[in-house]
Amino acid sequence: MIKNRIIYNSFSDYQFKLTKAQESFIWDNGGNKLIDFTSGWNVTNLGWNNPEIAEAINIQAKKNVYAPMWTADPIQEEYAKQLTQSLPKALNAVGRATGGTEANEEAIKTVRAYTGRKKILGFKDTYHGQSFSTLAIGYSPDYAVSKAVGPFVPGFIQMNFPRILFNDKNELLVLKKFSEELEKNLSKKNVAAIICEAGIITGWGSTFVAPKGFLKEVRKLTKKYGTLLILDEVGTGFSRCGKLFGMELEGITPDIVTFAKGMVNGAVAIGVMITTNQIAQATLAKSNLTSTFGWTPVACAAALKTLEIHKRDNVWEKSKKDGEYLLKTLQLELKNNPLIEDINGIGMEIGVHLRKNEKSKMREMIEKAGRLGLHLAYADDYNFQIMPPLTIERDVLNKGIEIFIKMIKFFS
Ligand SMILES: Cc1ncc(COP(=O)(O)O)c(C=O)c1O
Repeated sequence: MIKNRIIYNSFSDYQFKLTKAQESFIWDNGGNKLIDFTSGWNVTNLGWNNPEIAEAINIQAKKNVYAPMWTADPIQEEYAKQLTQSLPKALNAVGRATGGTEANEEAIKTVRAYTGRKKILGFKDTYHGQSFSTLAIGYSPDYAVSKAVGPFVPGFIQMNFPRILFNDKNELLVLKKFSEELEKNLSKKNVAAIICEAGIITGWGSTFVAPKGFLKEVRKLTKKYGTLLILDEVGTGFSRCGKLFGMELEGITPDIVTFAKGMVNGAVAIGVMITTNQIAQATLAKSNLTSTFGWTPVACAAALKTLEIHKRDNVWEKSKKDGEYLLKTLQLELKNNPLIEDINGIGMEIGVHLRKNEKSKMREMIEKAGRLGLHLAYADDYNFQIMPPLTIERDVLNKGIEIFIKMIKFFS
């Protein structure tokens, strides 16, 4: 659809004009105030139009808005320091980028340059960006998009994501089978890196969750076979999954981590690839990390303030508590509903999976929720990906849950 000269695809299909947004609410052009259960897809984690971040941007905009690639504004260096000091010690060299796709591109270039290997292993039906290499990570060659715009960059191998259901009795078995398959793929010692999220798929509507121990197993086997680990934290980062960063869920340190989205709460474009000094030193002359608009001083001011708020307010603790409450409440109310296959998630990233035995009514369901006062994203035909702002107040969260349940019951 082209609406008012803007191109929308079927996934991002136009819903309404967003006329105002504040905290956990957005307003449409009919003047309706909607509770937001999307955070713009894991972006506005600290609430829409956070005033502290707006203030930080204003201050920086009056000082300096740009520093070219061969220089650094002091605020860029300060942000690099603060961000890396919030991560495991080894991750201390940053590649500046404008978003998640670019950060992952930098990561892919870096691992190929470092290892001399070309193969990259990822998981089917995952999203890591819109470039030709990041699409190659998770898009099946059978997809209409792949056929229409391919070929993608060669050298990518896809594994099935080891999904478990809520309270899955087979969790250990799923992990064991996954581990065996992964070892088979890595044992030839020709895979440069694995790229994955922190045990949950956030970049794709499935919101599938992996067994506990997934990250540890990936880390153990990548080390064993000289493969690097790229952790894409574009969705899981910045308190979304009940920890400041998803890697903390299992206490692992990847060789590379990428962030974007929640980094600045939606105020400006920014992304980052962070790796070790050793890997950065060995690759910087070969990997050509250049980004004209990566880390503008204004973006860094917003990012610095965003990080400060997360750490000052321990936002991840509220995210963990609210996420457990949200999951428990949805389980209690909807577990036996005939439409529901499974409800699972980590922190404030919850997937409500519908049975696939009837034609998808996803668009009607989203519209109905909207009429009742709840904004939902179209994640895929059979899954709701629920990701409210992490600052949401309990009574607003309750009202949103109530509307969601009412909407599901209407269709069942
Ligand atoms: C997990 C994940 N990685 C990467 C990306 C790409 O980020 P961007 O849209 O900033 O390029 C996304 C975006 O949805 C994502 O969810």
